[in-house]
Amino acid sequence: MGKAADALSSLLCCPCRCLFCGVFSCLFSVLTCVFFAAGLVALVLYLLFRPHIVRAAAVSADLADFTLTPRTWILRHNLSAGLQLRNPNKRIALHYHGVASEAYYQGQRFAATDLPDLYQDTGETSPPIAVAFGAGESPLVGGVAAAGFRREAAEGATFSVDVKITAHIKLKLWVIRVPGPKTKIDCPLRIHRRNATADDHHRDGHQSSFQPTECRVWF
Ligand SMILES: *[C@@H]1O[C@H](CO)[C@@H](O)[C@H](O)[C@H]1NC(C)=O
Ligand SMILES: *[C@@H]1O[C@H](CO)[C@@H](O)[C@H](O)[C@H]1NC(C)=O
Repeated sequence: MGKAADALSSLLCCPCRCLFCGVFSCLFSVLTCVFFAAGLVALVLYLLFRPHIVRAAAVSADLADFTLTPRTWILRHNLSAGLQLRNPNKRIALHYHGVASEAYYQGQRFAATDLPDLYQDTGETSPPIAVAFGAGESPLVGGVAAAGFRREAAEGATFSVDVKITAHIKLKLWVIRVPGPKTKIDCPLRIHRRNATADDHHRDGHQSSFQPTECRVWF
């Protein structure tokens, strides 16, 4: 009876008890096991959530309108961008939902739009998603921001616009679905205003084309 209880308790102690049998105490082997398990969990979490679980790039952008009315500092804008998402994982499929996009100029949000859900199979690169903010008006607050706008307008009308995407993702491993972390994508873009004439440095007919930009992804 006592022997059986001993065997049972040592079995419960730790699956790797054999390593320490008769050498170290049960407590030590339990601690070792806890550390081992914690390390394993950390490794699995790292493999799942490491930043390159999602790759994003802005492959096109169009700034059809981007003008600041004098004195009132109302920003008239019409921005759209093509966002390409890539799932580099061989085993994890991704399901994006609650996808929202915001556009910032000088740290100020001037437009926002919601995007449809997206499913990405393993290793898949989706065709570019059209992120169309549409035409709108938004006040630009502060003289510093307005001065920044005038400077960029004068220097060839190429504007530094931030497109940020937030989404919830679900991870699918084989048949298992687990909720993933909230994903944030930040694309710092330099976009040439399409409708720039007076202050355009590219008057020779050469359209300055958009440089595809790798976006930052974090969770
Ligand atoms: C905004 O720009 C898009 C092209 O990117 C164009 O199709 C659309 O007509 C523009 N909207 C307005 C109101 O000018
Ligand atoms: C260019 O902008 C002006 C106003 O700033 C607008 O009236 C005109 O329609 C625009 N042209 C194009 C081609 O978008």
